[in-house]
Order: sequence, then structure tokens, then C-alpha cells
Amino acid sequence: MTKASLNPADLRYLAAAAGAAPSLHNSQPWFFRPTIDGCGIAVYADGTRAVPLTDPDGRAMHISVGAAVFNLRVAAAQLGREPLVTLLPDDDADPSPTAVLNLGRCAHTPLPYGPDLYSAIARRHSSRLPFANRDVPERVLGELIAAAAAEGVVLAVLEEADARRVLNLTAEAERRTAADLARQAETREWLRLEEPAADGIPREALGPQDHDARVPVRAFTGHPPSSPTTTQRFEALPQVATLTTHFDRPQDWLRAGQAMERAWLVATVHGLRVSVLHQAVEWPDTRANLRDPQTGPGYVQMVLRMGYGPPGTPTPRRPVSETLGAAEAGGDASTVNETGGETAPPLGSNRQ
Ligand SMILES: Cc1cc2nc3c(=O)[nH]c(=O)nc-3n(C[C@H](O)[C@H](O)[C@H](O)COP(=O)(O)O)c2cc1C
Repeated sequence: MTKASLNPADLRYLAAAAGAAPSLHNSQPWFFRPTIDGCGIAVYADGTRAVPLTDPDGRAMHISVGAAVFNLRVAAAQLGREPLVTLLPDDDADPSPTAVLNLGRCAHTPLPYGPDLYSAIARRHSSRLPFANRDVPERVLGELIAAAAAEGVVLAVLEEADARRVLNLTAEAERRTAADLARQAETREWLRLEEPAADGIPREALGPQDHDARVPVRAFTGHPPSSPTTTQRFEALPQVATLTTHFDRPQDWLRAGQAMERAWLVATVHGLRVSVLHQAVEWPDTRANLRDPQTGPGYVQMVLRMGYGPPGTPTPRRPVSETLGAAEAGGDASTVNETGGETAPPLGSNRQ
């Protein structure tokens, strides 16, 4: 069965869900437009929000956009629409979309991805805080692996020796970034330490440094820190997972982003916290060494740290009126937030 065109409220609902996705430095490098037939939504990468020194190839930007695409799929299903996704469509338009979701068909089920992932979209946050010394149950890990596999991406939960190898590479990359003044300056441009803003990372979302230097969390404020940071004891053996693709093309990055968000939302449903350790992926040699020598070729796209602990602090999002454009958004200055998402309709309510 076919569905009617998307109305402005549908578009706002979709854009709010998409905009809640994680992105490098909370750069939110995306905008959305309805398709010409009115039955779909196109996703564009926003080059004005690039982080060029840290992400020269736009790999992290595509991962971020991929995460937004996955949220769109979840929200579309919630609207009773089956999302048919085309990545990198052959389109002469300028700008050309990074993905197009055709939403003209009725969904078979509102929960095509297993558990209720829609309600997890607003609850998912990066948690840069220490986690408890508690293992993640095998059953939950199995669900995360299956979530990534469904997107064509390998999620590997690392054994102790591999986890330590990956953490050492992350620490090495963090040291290099610390010595790179241009990269440090670029990162600081995305910090929002004083004034509230609609993007970037606010002071409250920054975590402590690990007192025992086991978990190399990114020092966003530099080395030595340009504003006071605390240290705390982190978990003794961090639980680390990698996301790997067979190839390293833009479509693989988009798939990796969808897999990351799908696994992260499943983790959120289970009360599991996640943060990203991306530093080693940002230098070609440390990235190459992230590969598990046993599993052969492949490209590591993300390193995730998982565990049980505080949920992490919500970060701001740009208003839907900005990401969707004033005409489609009805001109209101709605914003995404923890409990309500955009002002109307709220992220978290079921509009079906
Ligand atoms: C490609 C990518 C790389 C990221 N790298 C890091 C990182 O190295 N360290 C970190 O703490 N968070 C990292 N993040 C998480 C973002 O900072 C986070 O998603 C953003 O600030 C929005 O916050 P939220 O995840 O709580 O919604 C990364 C996210 C993405 C998508």
C-alpha cells in the first residue's frame, strides 16, 4: 500500500530524529529536504561543517551522516512508512544528496529493527565518564554484533590483549594530536565552554581524564588542558569494540555510520553506555594497526568503549528550522532536547 505525501509535521518529526544522531565534535554536518514527489526525504552532507584537519577525507562526516540516516529509518517506520534507502544516488543536482529515503510505502511493522529503537534516540548520549567493573552479558553483545551485521558491518568485541593493543594505539594517536597545534585549534573551535550554542561540545559533556591513564579519552581542551579538568579512576579493563568494513569507500563509511547508530541504540535500550575513541582512526598508520591481524583485511571505521555507568550529558542540536529549511519546517524555531526533541512534535512521542 502506498502512503500520502509527507506533511510539514512529518518532515519535522523525521528531521528531529535524524538531527539527534552523534557526529564528530557534534558538528551535525547534515541538512534535509523533502524529495520532489513529496513522499521522501533527501539527506545532504553539509561541507560548511567539515572538520578538515581531523577528517581530511570526509570519512567521519559520512559516518555521522550515516548515523542520521539510520535515525531517519527508525523514525520513518514509526510513522508507518517503509524506508527504502538509496545511498549516494546518481544525481546531477547541485548539491547532490548523500542519501535519499523513499517513504511512499506502508511499513510492515513499526519495529523493523527489533526492540523499540525510536524511544532510544533521545536517550542515547556519549558517556565519557568512568564505567563500572562489570562485564556486558554475552546476550547483549550478541545483539550488538547482530545489529551491525544487519548493516553489513563487522562489530568485534575485543578480548583483553586486543583491547589493550587498541587502547595503546589510541593513546599514541592522542599524544600526536596533542602535539599538533593546528588540530588542537580545530578541536577547540568546536568547544562551547562558556556560551550555550546549538552545536559543538558543551563543558558539561566533557568527562574527566583517567587517573591511571588506562582509558585515553580525548582531551578536547588540549594538553595541558586550557581549562581545568579533573581526573577519576576508570574501569580496570575497558570493554572495547571495533566496527570494520571490507572496503573504505564513502558508501562503506555511510554503512558504518548506520551500523554504529543501530548498535548504539540497541545498547541504549539495554542500559549500556557508549563513547567513541576515534583518535587512532584519524592517523593512517595507527588506523592500519587497529586491524585485527587474525581476521585479515578490513578497514576499522570506529572504536567504541562500552559499559555501565552514568548516561552522559545531552548535547545541543541545531533547530529543525535550520536543518530542514524554514519553508518545510513551518518557520518555527524548534529544537531537539533530551525529553521532548523538537517542540512539535516531540522526539519520543509516537505519531503513527
Ligand atoms: C565519527 C565520530 C567520531 C567521534 N569521535 C569522538 C572521540 O574521539 N571522542 C569522544 O569523546 N567522542 C567522539 N565522538 C562523539 C561525539 O563527540 C558526539 O557524538 C557528539 O558530541 C554529540 O554528542 P552525543 O553523542 O552525546 O549526542 C565521535 C562521534 C563520531 C560520529
